[in-house]
Amino acid sequence: MTALTLSTAAAPGLRADAIVVGVAKGTGSKSGDLVVAPGAEAVDKAYDGRLAGVLETLGASGGEGEVTKLPAPSGFKAPLVLAVGLGALPEKDDSFSGETLRRAAGAAARALAGTKKAAFALPVADAADAGAVAEGALLGAYSFDAYKENGKDAKNGKNGKAPLAEVALLGGKPRDKAYKAAVERATAVTEELNRARDLVNTPPNDLNPESFAAVAQAAAKEHGIKVQVLDEKALEKGGYGGILGVGAGSAAPPRLVKLSYTSSKAKKHLAFVGKGITYDSGGISLKPAGHNETMKCDMSGAAAVFAAVVAAARLGLEVNVTGWLALAENMPSGSATRPGDVLRMYSGKTVEVLNTDAEGRLVLADALAKASEDKPDAIVDVATLTGAMMLALGNRTFGIMANDDAFRSAVHEAAEEVGEAAWPMPLPDHLKKGMDSPTADIANMGERYGGGLVAGLFLKEFVGEGITWAHLDIAGPAFNESGPFGYTPKGGTGSAVRTLVRLAELTASGDLG
Ligand code: BES
Ligand code: MN
Ligand code: ZN
Repeated sequence: MTALTLSTAAAPGLRADAIVVGVAKGTGSKSGDLVVAPGAEAVDKAYDGRLAGVLETLGASGGEGEVTKLPAPSGFKAPLVLAVGLGALPEKDDSFSGETLRRAAGAAARALAGTKKAAFALPVADAADAGAVAEGALLGAYSFDAYKENGKDAKNGKNGKAPLAEVALLGGKPRDKAYKAAVERATAVTEELNRARDLVNTPPNDLNPESFAAVAQAAAKEHGIKVQVLDEKALEKGGYGGILGVGAGSAAPPRLVKLSYTSSKAKKHLAFVGKGITYDSGGISLKPAGHNETMKCDMSGAAAVFAAVVAAARLGLEVNVTGWLALAENMPSGSATRPGDVLRMYSGKTVEVLNTDAEGRLVLADALAKASEDKPDAIVDVATLTGAMMLALGNRTFGIMANDDAFRSAVHEAAEEVGEAAWPMPLPDHLKKGMDSPTADIANMGERYGGGLVAGLFLKEFVGEGITWAHLDIAGPAFNESGPFGYTPKGGTGSAVRTLVRLAELTASGDLG
């Protein structure tokens, strides 16, 4: 894990392997020029004020995420200066957005893999900016090498490229409460988010419902969170037909995990519900090759919920947060649920399973019905639920559906605030008819068009009467199959973690709806 500190050191005398500065594209009267961003004054001075010119000579454009390395000026203890592009210089004041800083810090941290210590001299105007740079650096420095043969060597820095180990954040105020709090928050949230990424990246032969539940149990113990694990016998006894039906084909039986973080000062209660399919083969409605290679990512919702509850506990938020992890492996076998089977769900409703690959909604339905019994002030579920949502919104934006317009907007705002791309989606009543079943109360599939909304409408049927609910379909952004960008690595991304934490914070402070 990368360590991060606020430092008052001046860049020249700093013992580090690299100094990170920001460079932007000039706008307005400076249009066409490269501009060295505030925070790097001492570095620029050491180049006799010629840093922008030097960078231009090296071909830098100031474009977002662009990285240019150059030898540090003489007299500097650090040998390397790394300039990271910030995009266009903000027109009005010199304040860059939190997300711009986060992405730039992330790109710089990634480019510094293999280096031990770097000082970040990026434009930090206030505590929130310091938090953003810290988040970006700590998220960008992530790497998953547990299964690389040279992974251990890489960690020792002998071989391969170990992630950046140490970050000193310059330009902040280490003694200022707000700065300290911002960096502490960034550390807690990013450590848990990176842990969610680890869970997503862990291959499905090592992460199954049982081992996921054990990880949750250990973390809960460490952070004073109450935890309850329902195993297959308890699920049977409780009548969780959805979770059991999805897990029926697997040699690794399903689990339902309840994590309860409580604060003595809480006035509100939030419930988070996560889809935790540790591998989605599709079941008897087997996915074809080409569609199953990345399906270890199908527990990303549960990983996000888990990370958010632990982060809320670490931050001591004054709100009660319950996390529900609906864990199962969706496999075909002689004991698997068949297309045509009818499941009796926890809520008492019956579901005709027309396609065993529409399994996420089945495990979530049971968890939503169970979570509703506590009568929380709101429920938010997170799921890699439909390919249709990816067709609609692409692979960097998650869809938000809800049974309450104001709450959907509040969730969207929270996502925007933390730099997660999200978009509101409707739940049109007329699509419900497609799920009519001649045999059961409802079928687990409906019209093909609007498949993401159909899944949302199915879930809505299992949310308790009068409970405010939102559904985040993170099928697109949960797993990055292309190259890394900004602070987002290849593979598991930790999508929705920061939105959930922000929702818990806003609920604690009474600022949510
Ligand atoms: N886990 C998938 C959705 C998914 C697809 C997530 C691609 C991430 C990337 C889900 O269980 C699924 O298979 N959904 C089906 C539903 C259909 C059978 C109604 C889908 O979207 O095709
Ligand atoms: Mn599926
Ligand atoms: Zn799935």
